[in-house]
Amino acid sequence: MLIQPEAVEYLVSRGNGVEECKNILKELEEKPFILSVDMIRSFFERKEEKREEKRKREEVQVSERGIERGKFKILRDVTGNSTCEGTLEDFVRLFRSRFEKLSGFLRKRQEMKNAVPIKKALRSSEEIATIGIVKDVVSTPNGLFVEIEDEEESIRVYVPKNVDSLIVHDEVLGIVGKRKGEMFIARSIVRPEIPVERRKNFSSEEIYVVFLSDLHVGSKSFLEKEWDAFLDWINGRRGNERQKSVAEKAKYIVISGDNIEGVGIYPGQEKDLMVEDLYEQYELLAEKLSEIPSEIKILMQPGNHDAVRPALPQPAFEKEIKDLFSHLNITFIGNPCYMEIEGVLILAYHGQSIQDFATCLPNMNQNQPTKIMKEMLKRRHMAPIYGGISSLAPEKQDYMVIDAVPDIFVTGHVHVTAIEQYRNVLLINASAWQSQTDYQRMMNFMPDPAKAVVVNLRNLIPSVIQFA
Ligand SMILES: [Fe+2]
Repeated sequence: MLIQPEAVEYLVSRGNGVEECKNILKELEEKPFILSVDMIRSFFERKEEKREEKRKREEVQVSERGIERGKFKILRDVTGNSTCEGTLEDFVRLFRSRFEKLSGFLRKRQEMKNAVPIKKALRSSEEIATIGIVKDVVSTPNGLFVEIEDEEESIRVYVPKNVDSLIVHDEVLGIVGKRKGEMFIARSIVRPEIPVERRKNFSSEEIYVVFLSDLHVGSKSFLEKEWDAFLDWINGRRGNERQKSVAEKAKYIVISGDNIEGVGIYPGQEKDLMVEDLYEQYELLAEKLSEIPSEIKILMQPGNHDAVRPALPQPAFEKEIKDLFSHLNITFIGNPCYMEIEGVLILAYHGQSIQDFATCLPNMNQNQPTKIMKEMLKRRHMAPIYGGISSLAPEKQDYMVIDAVPDIFVTGHVHVTAIEQYRNVLLINASAWQSQTDYQRMMNFMPDPAKAVVVNLRNLIPSVIQFA
């Protein structure tokens, strides 16, 4: 390639000429015969524009937050937006939305910059990158046989054991590899992933959020005594000085679903019920929550035991149920729900699909939910597996995609307490308020109940308070 003398001068005058030149060449899709000074100028202009755009975006976000300080807002939730009828076209549209969103994330990754459609990959004999949604996975002792497809074609891929062993149905993957006959041999698997580094958001004041989940009110095994101890703490009647001061500064409680035990959720549930009527269970729940100080806002999300449709994403409760809580400071949210509390971005999800991941992936189980939550973040998707334990509703867009990277990602459902950090995201699986049920005993499952996870929004440091 030739370079105009003026272009050389221009580059040298800016300093670091060789490095910059490399960057410019990387950006250009088609390599020119002569690298002109105009090309270089427009490269720097574009770069400056981008920087300016980014700065403006950040400014808007910050000023929005300024206005909303001391408040919270729901950013994304299916409530009121559900459009699906469940036709075949609806499902096609759902998976297209998933593919578009996730392949968009993949294309931003260095390894996938030159990804080609599967159709083109099938014709090439060079090493090539392509993107597809997993249609089928068959596990063998030496690796996985995977079939992936995009809008027009599908291809069979062999993924050796040392390359990747954690591929699930219906996730969107990038594959780098080479065709061998009718099959593609993968050298590496690329996932949408979340960035390694990102700036966390904090609140300006010391404000605490209390994370609870799975109250299962109405069940014989609801932990009355422990719940009363929780109420004592939140009212400042229990705990050491530090715990009392946290209670005083607690301004939000997030309940991640399964607020009541429900009716007809699993075989033989009747004998575990203390209250057999669904509405009476919610009335009892309202009673249990009535002692929470009214200045604390409760954000209540449904789970699979609650009285909303079981398919994900779940909308917030209907009016008849909400009305039972009208005297309390509660905002009803959907499942999942993106929200901003005091400037901190929180993704709350009941966590039904934790079990699907545990069933499909080797070395994963529901006693270690945060390990599975990491897998969700890597895939930028909370529930990829279609046709598993948790059912998916074919909404216009895929609400289970993790579009924005949250500061806190919280789930429940599996009745254990777990906290972990992953790439600057705080992962929480919030504890339950139900002791081991007969059903769990039968399934050989040991819960870890009666704990509250509290997070200081000023520094995002979590701690656990035990009430057992
Ligand atoms: Fe659940």
